[in-house]
Amino acid sequence: MYRNNKVFCRAYQFFLRIGSMVLDWSEPELLKGENSVLKISDILKSKNIKSVLLVTDNGLRNLGLIDGLVNKLEEDKINVAVFSDVQPNPTIENVENAKDFYFENKCQAIIAFGGGSPMDCAKGAGARISNPTRSINSMRGLFHVRKRPPLLIAVPTTAGTGSETTIAAVITDSETHEKSAINSTKIRPLYAALDPVLTTGLPQKITSTTGLDALTHAVEAYIGGSNTSGTRRNAEKAVKLIFENLETAYNDGKNLEARNNMLLGSFCAGVAFTRAYVGYVHCIAHQLGGFYGVPHGLANAVILPYVLEYYGEKAHKSLARLAGFAGIGKDLKTDKEKAEAFIAEIKAMERRMEIPEKFEQIKEEDIPVIVERALKEGNPLYPVPKIMTPEDCEKVVRSLMA
Ligand SMILES: NC(=O)c1ccc[n+]([C@@H]2O[C@H](COP(=O)([O-])OP(=O)(O)OC[C@H]3O[C@@H](n4cnc5c(N)ncnc54)[C@H](O)[C@@H]3O)[C@@H](O)[C@H]2O)c1
Ligand SMILES: [Fe+2]
Repeated sequence: MYRNNKVFCRAYQFFLRIGSMVLDWSEPELLKGENSVLKISDILKSKNIKSVLLVTDNGLRNLGLIDGLVNKLEEDKINVAVFSDVQPNPTIENVENAKDFYFENKCQAIIAFGGGSPMDCAKGAGARISNPTRSINSMRGLFHVRKRPPLLIAVPTTAGTGSETTIAAVITDSETHEKSAINSTKIRPLYAALDPVLTTGLPQKITSTTGLDALTHAVEAYIGGSNTSGTRRNAEKAVKLIFENLETAYNDGKNLEARNNMLLGSFCAGVAFTRAYVGYVHCIAHQLGGFYGVPHGLANAVILPYVLEYYGEKAHKSLARLAGFAGIGKDLKTDKEKAEAFIAEIKAMERRMEIPEKFEQIKEEDIPVIVERALKEGNPLYPVPKIMTPEDCEKVVRSLMA
């Protein structure tokens, strides 16, 4: 098939790399540290915003995680319309409802508060608000969002998706089970608050799986062909921070330093992959999210070592370098040995955090569509080290079955 043809994929990626040089890659302005989330009120006041939409999910609302910010905004006489009906793997309906709620409450700005699901829902709603005649489905893919959303401020509560700094919003069509992204520099948040206090109550399982999502972003960006010196630096920093802090955050959730470093690591990984792309780990993970509702981080965590092994020697050099940043394999000599030690350590870390090795959910009859959609996402877009054919992809998907 043409889409999976190597020459076509590489030519497409080359032109995309050239084209992306002229885009605006400005990163969000950061509010950092304990209770930094409260500074959002000053930003809104400085822009004379009187009513704001806060997009979150019911889990976070019930935990009271938004209360500090909501109280501060109300004290400062800013009306807050809280939309909390976002489900994990947010759907088009979630986005449409959030958009309607924005207009009903005459809002002027959006706060995206939560993990990737609320943040992506908010980004999708922002795109719909400023582009009312374009459907979510018509904005999927690259650069189909024409007008910039209203002021968007992101507050990540997982570390994480990096959605607070990425140009993507991943939205599921619940009719077709298709899960794919809108990608546009226009939907990148203008501000992001990295407040570790908000993540101290993250359960162990979400800490580990979302942390491995962040690691997957850094690794997939780094081994791909679209790196710049900036994306490389960010991916290296992310890998170091994640290897040094993820297990501490997992074992000692209240450790603010580890939580803070994980938020930074996740942010850096987001900066890296939003310019340098992800790869087949994400392509397959998105299908397992769309078909079976497998949480995104868990899907990536399980798939990551399999895809890295599939790349084989094509990824050895870059994985060997990352091993150095992760503090692994210092005494080993060849890139192959170092890369293999890096993959082995990812597996070992996953077992220590009780992440399974395979999926129970994958059904035989779904495999052809999983493969078809995964490759539709990845080819020709992602500048991966080795182009997957449908046969290769099927083999990887089969090896993931319990
Ligand atoms: N836009 C992007 O660039 C990008 C990148 C990667 C993934 N994603 C998307 O992000 C979504 C996944 O996001 P996620 O992994 O952050 O999970 P999520 O947002 O779906 O949240 C998972 C669960 O964690 C809970 N939770 C979140 N923060 C918490 C906290 N601080 N304390 C207690 N519970 C908390 C939520 O209530 C929810 O039940 C997927 O749809 C994925 O495709 C987007
Ligand atoms: Fe991801």
